[in-house]
This record gives sequence, C-alpha cells and structure tokens, in this order.
Amino acid sequence: VKPADFHTVEDLRAEARRRLPRMVFDFVDGGAEEEVTMRANRSAFEAITFDPRYMRGVGERDISTTILGTPVRSPVMLAPTGLARLAHRDGELGLADAAGREGSIFVVGIASGTTLEAVAERAEGPLWFQLYLWKGRTIVEGLVERARAAGYRALCVTVDVPVLGNRERDIRNGMRIPPKINLRNAFDAARRPRWLANIARAELTFVNMRGVPGAGGNSGLSLMDWVNRELHDPGATWDEVAWLREIWDGPLVVKGITHPEDARSAVDAGADGVVVSNHGGRQLDGGPATITALPGVVAAVGDRAEVLLDSGVRRGSDVVKAIALGARACLVGRPYWYGLAAGGTAGAQRMLEILNTEIDRTLALVGRSRLDELDPSVLGAGR
Ligand SMILES: Cc1cc2nc3c(=O)[nH]c(=O)nc-3n(C[C@H](O)[C@H](O)[C@H](O)COP(=O)(O)O)c2cc1C
Repeated sequence: VKPADFHTVEDLRAEARRRLPRMVFDFVDGGAEEEVTMRANRSAFEAITFDPRYMRGVGERDISTTILGTPVRSPVMLAPTGLARLAHRDGELGLADAAGREGSIFVVGIASGTTLEAVAERAEGPLWFQLYLWKGRTIVEGLVERARAAGYRALCVTVDVPVLGNRERDIRNGMRIPPKINLRNAFDAARRPRWLANIARAELTFVNMRGVPGAGGNSGLSLMDWVNRELHDPGATWDEVAWLREIWDGPLVVKGITHPEDARSAVDAGADGVVVSNHGGRQLDGGPATITALPGVVAAVGDRAEVLLDSGVRRGSDVVKAIALGARACLVGRPYWYGLAAGGTAGAQRMLEILNTEIDRTLALVGRSRLDELDPSVLGAGR
C-alpha cells in the first residue's frame, strides 16, 4: 500500500491495526477504564455543526498561522507521546522529518525513544519539549538544561498525570516498557512477523532517562512501572509550574487542562499557553470532552494566553471547529502513530497531509479563506 492510498486518518488506523501486535495497537488506541471520555471526545466534535456561507470569493486560501510566535504552515501539531519506534523503526526521527516537511511543530516527549538531542539534530522544523514535573527537581532541571542547549523553542509541561490512568487493555495484554515477550503475548507477536522484523534491532526504552538514579535499576519493576510509581508526583502544585517559569525563559505551555480556573492558575504561574486536553481519554475516565471544555478556558484566559486543544482530533473539520471556538491550533497523538505504523515516516507525513487538505477544503466549504476568519459564527449555534 502506498501512502497516497490512505484517504482518511481512519484508513491509517485500520492499517495500523492489521500491522501491529494487539498489545501495541491497544496501548496506542486505548483509553482509561470504560473509555467513555475517549468516545466523548469524538461524539462532542460530531455534535457540532457548521453554518456555511457561499459566494464569498474563497479562491485563495491559507491555513498557515503562528503558534506562540513560531510561524507554521499548518495548525496541526504532533502531540508528545513516547517510544514511537514501537510503531515503526523510523520512530521520533521519522516524526521530526514528517513534521518538518508539512510545516508543523513536533512536541518531543520526555518518554521519547530517541534522545531529545538526536531529534533536535535531525529536525529541520521547530520543536517543543514536553516534560512532567517529576519528583525531585534535579531530574527536571537537568532536562530543562538539555532542552535549552539543544535549541527547543518551548517547554510543554503536562499536569494531568498525578498518577497514571487505569488503562485496562494494557493490564490485560501484559503491556510493559521495555516490551517483553511472554507466554501471553508471544502468539500475538509471532502473527506480526513484518512488525517484528521492522523493529527487530530498535532500542525500546526511555533514553532521556539514562543516568537518572534508579532508572532501570534492580527494583524488579519494568521501566514503565518504575516511572509511574516512583516519578509521577501526586504532591505537585502550581508552585512547581511557577518554579519551572523561573528556570526557563522561553515560551511555557501547560498541557492537560479542562477547567477554566486551572487555566487561570496556569497563566498566573507564568504559562504563555495552555493545552485543553484530557490526554486522549487515557487518564481520568468521565471527564469532559475537550471541545466542550474549550469555550470556558478561552473565556478565562484567551486574552492572556494562547489556547491549544487535543484529544480526539481526527478530521480537518475538527480543527476548524476548535479554531472557531477560540483555539489557536490543535495537536494529534494517535493519528501519527497510525501513520507511522501504516507506512513509517511517509505514513506520518500522509496523516498530516490528509488533515491539512481537509482543513483547506472545509474552509472553502464554510466560506472562509483564512484561519483568522474563523469565529463562532462559522458554527451552527452561531445564529
Ligand atoms: C501512546 C501515547 C503515549 C502518550 N504519552 C504521552 C506523554 O508521555 N506525555 C504527554 O503529555 N502526553 C502523552 N500522550 C497524550 C498525547 O500527548 C495527547 O494528549 C493525546 O494523544 C491526544 O489525543 P489523540 O490521541 O486522540 O489525538 C500520549 C498519547 C498516546 C496515544
């Protein structure tokens, strides 16, 4: 299958499902508990309608914008995840290439499977670095210093993981990092020889954590369990974000907010941007869909900070709806995993191309030429 044969994000997802072992596909595709929030992200987008206008001269359209001062050719960014080589050996280097070619920002995750320095060396386009406020400020301080030295434009701090969400598919499948073939999943992996061959020599571990005391030590836990139990800090407060503000002078973004008051706290602590996100429904099950939470956050901080959105974005029309409701741009997570799994770098690039084409087409169909012409009057509830 050639990249051009995929026409939607869902096409890429179907191919990813065919290619990946169940354990890996479920790790990417799944959410927390009943996956109610994960599904709500989609149904809330679907419930919003447009109020299109015609004959307005939309022959020349432009989907470029700026995000916290960085010019981009597209309002779709790659959200921070980890260990992209689980999907394809191109991993984070391939994602940096795909984002660069499509004029997008790639947010490299603290849990990436390629060092933040190696991704920065490869990337032609702008990069942000995502981190968690892990216990003990020295780990975070070291990572901030490395991100600065490597030339990252912005820091994105994720606040919706006081503890890890309960992803029951992973528990049932025995998913761990590094992945381990055992009796439960050996049959599953053996049925995906192409995937096994593709990632055979890939290193699958959290390389940014090398040298962190205790990481990969003899605790008897898998690295993933060790991070989740020992590093995430349920005791953290907004003071930690204010502290991060003191040690980082570039743009600071807080990711994982759905409440307007939390958005205010983030901006009061020094954030320049917030990402309305529920982690793709992978953390708390039962929280609000992000597109539903967006207007409240925009009303609270939209005049003081840029508001971004992720979780459930699968169509260009979703991006148009989010921007109409006050978002500056959107991020996608699972869609680029599907792209990588389906076709490596070219598959991830195809995913961005599909969304960008859909955004452009939707703009024309609602009778607008540029993203800054989008406001609530584009939506069905506008009249
Ligand atoms: C496999 C996977 C790993 C993720 N890891 C992280 C992470 O380490 N840090 C983080 O802030 N968000 C992480 N996320 C959440 C994404 O940044 C993003 O919020 C989410 O994927 C958006 O929803 P979507 O997948 O529906 O687009 C992860 C998501 C996935 C699918």
